[in-house]
Amino acid sequence: MSKILVVYCSLSGNTKAAAEAVAEGARSTGATVLVKNGFEAQPADLLNCQAVALGSYDAFSYMGGGLKDFLDRAFYPTQNQITGKPYVAFLTHGGGGKAIQSIESLAQKFKLRKAVNAVLVKGHPDGKKAADLKALGIKLAAAVAT
Ligand SMILES: Cc1cc2nc3c(=O)[nH]c(=O)nc-3n(C[C@H](O)[C@H](O)[C@H](O)COP(=O)(O)O)c2cc1C
Repeated sequence: MSKILVVYCSLSGNTKAAAEAVAEGARSTGATVLVKNGFEAQPADLLNCQAVALGSYDAFSYMGGGLKDFLDRAFYPTQNQITGKPYVAFLTHGGGGKAIQSIESLAQKFKLRKAVNAVLVKGHPDGKKAADLKALGIKLAAAVAT
């Protein structure tokens, strides 16, 4: 059974809700899903999963501190050990959304493999956006086998 890590940061709950939707989608495929706040996630979580979803809010057109903290701490301990591991990114924002570029850029530095395009959500993920996030989790789980 595949193990999927959803690591995210959230200040006011929008990205936490998005992370839960991604996790729900991935879990619906039968995968084991670990959902962790960036400040709590450990490098070993990234080593031990078969695929990872990276989520953040937009903070001045960059990813939020919790996700950046995790990626900073995880870089050396995982270097050259996660090459080609599938990932997806998701972002909530207030009308901008440029921060997605910072997540995609760091994912490249980790040599992760993009499974499908990111999902961006303005504000809280409801309705169609929640469905898009669930689909993102399903597609990420599907990418493990490919
Ligand atoms: C310090 C700070 C900076 C922000 N900067 C941006 C920004 O540059 N562009 C944007 O679209 N939204 C920006 N936002 C809005 C948040 O990204 C947005 O409200 C997001 O959904 C909050 O997610 P959360 O509920 O998970 O904390 C900012 C919010 C905060 C708190």
